[in-house]
Amino acid sequence: MQRRTLLQGALAALLLPAAAAKAAKNALPVIDVYKSASCGCCHEWVDHLRANGFTVRAVDVPNPSDYRAKYGIPDDLGSCHTGVVAGYALEGHVPVAEIKRLLAERPKARGLTVPGMPMGSPGMEGARKDPYDVLLVQADGRTRVYKHYGA
Ligand code: CU
Ligand code: CU
Repeated sequence: MQRRTLLQGALAALLLPAAAAKAAKNALPVIDVYKSASCGCCHEWVDHLRANGFTVRAVDVPNPSDYRAKYGIPDDLGSCHTGVVAGYALEGHVPVAEIKRLLAERPKARGLTVPGMPMGSPGMEGARKDPYDVLLVQADGRTRVYKHYGA
């Protein structure tokens, strides 16, 4: 019995660090979100992130656009909130799929934006689904379509 317990202990000591390392490797980085307190769709987007496994630190700020400027997203590509993950900006209702792709690809870029608040994007679910683009804002400020949704 004692010998068996010892063996089990030794086995656990061998396996646990491997499991912990695997968990750390798969862990998603924290997303900081700067939003205004009164914004309902911002809250819905934060829920979308959390439902997909991200840890989110949501901060209510008087002027979310200050953070858009700070992280280099042009005003004309702006939306209601600015998220930050691993140094990248996430402006507006960016889907988790593109956030994960960004983290896997790690392009030289400022981040992603979904300009405006298109109906049907995560956190903007409703009666209508409008087509929209997720744009990559490159290091030089130019954009390219990272993913197109809809017709
Ligand atoms: Cu919004
Ligand atoms: Cu928002």
